[in-house]
Amino acid sequence: MKHLIAKSGDIAEGGRIVRDVAATTVGVFRVAGQLYAYENTCPHQGGPVCQGLLIPRVEEKLNAARGAEGFRFDETDPRLVCPWHGFEFSLTTGCHPGSAEIRLTAFEVTEEGGMVYVGV
Ligand code: FES
Repeated sequence: MKHLIAKSGDIAEGGRIVRDVAATTVGVFRVAGQLYAYENTCPHQGGPVCQGLLIPRVEEKLNAARGAEGFRFDETDPRLVCPWHGFEFSLTTGCHPGSAEIRLTAFEVTEEGGMVYVGV
């Protein structure tokens, strides 16, 4: 069922909202103009994952000999870090980087007429 969750202006680029919808709590995020909605329940032990830290994806830079040369940050695939035990999830896929089977519960999210709706 489709529920109004926010006005478009409530979710700035790189921002989020976390609100109760129906019988659950949903986090809606805007990344590169695209909206993503996830249940605010971590698949590890049920922590409030949508309220966690948002960080860029960290990649290790390797030289031709595969030696480490520091790190770089990829802003196009932000990571959401659960505040309870630090499990990390891609905001664009909802998946844990180590296992696609460990994933957030995603909801359909649409934006129409300056309003944001989620299907819960
Ligand atoms: S409950 Fe989220 S990492 Fe444990």
